[in-house]
Amino acid sequence: MTLPSRLPFEIIRDPAAMRARAEDLRRDGRRVAVVPTMGALHDGHLTLLRRARAMADVVILTIFVNPTQFGPNEDLSRYPRDEAGDLAKARACGIDLAFCPTAEAMYPAGSQTFVEVRELAQPLCGASRPGHFAGVATVVTKLFHVTRPHVALFGEKDYQQLAVIRRMTRDLDFGIEIVGVPIVREPDGLAMSSRNVYLSPAQRAQALALVNGLGAAEAALRAGERDAAALLAAARAPIEAAAADGGVRIDYLELRDADDLSPVAVVTRPAVLAMAVFVGTTRLIDNRVLKP
Ligand code: PAF
Repeated sequence: MTLPSRLPFEIIRDPAAMRARAEDLRRDGRRVAVVPTMGALHDGHLTLLRRARAMADVVILTIFVNPTQFGPNEDLSRYPRDEAGDLAKARACGIDLAFCPTAEAMYPAGSQTFVEVRELAQPLCGASRPGHFAGVATVVTKLFHVTRPHVALFGEKDYQQLAVIRRMTRDLDFGIEIVGVPIVREPDGLAMSSRNVYLSPAQRAQALALVNGLGAAEAALRAGERDAAALLAAARAPIEAAAADGGVRIDYLELRDADDLSPVAVVTRPAVLAMAVFVGTTRLIDNRVLKP
């Protein structure tokens, strides 16, 4: 029997129904890709969806603003939500199925099990946002269990998140291919993020300091600089210039080994320059892998 090439679009909200549907898809011999998101889709997400479309027979988008990855003073309650708009954009990219569960369905009363990745989850965002990566690893595990994908796609803007998910997938034998997709930027270089909508026009201009910092470090590397302190100083300069106008604060700015995220003193192999910077109350992250 030949399978219909494309399936009628559907939205599923119940995890058990999603798992049953995913089992059917696998039984039919279809290759399934999943793109996990928290919604508020921008061109970065749509790039993931288009890439998924090219890699699989069935593309599942998940939209779930995961409460367990937000700290008590973070932006869970005001995180942008626009399910109808997201679904319209995603359908234009050819997705087959959207899994949009409620928090109650994902975390029924009494839930008490978390997935913890250790060393990789400790520095950078892990140090600034205690418990964040346990929340991410737990929800991604659950999303993998209910969508049963062969391949899952994540953006490289969340560099540490991608590293944590790759390691978890390997350590726990999920047997899922993890694909990282390069950062998508606005024409002026700002990395696309759902949180960019929080920025006022003045803050939007200040936010360019992040990509300018990455560019300055890259230029120093190209000029022969290998010392981490000097590369970090180059990256810090445009951010400190923006901070002089007020409202900009570096959360972290670090150079770490691109594979295991261990600290780097001299760049002899690929290293990731990773930063988190508050612009007003909005915390933005960005990174670039520096290759000597
Ligand atoms: O990157 C995100 O949007 C989230 O951290 C993810 C991977 C969907 C888990 O909630």
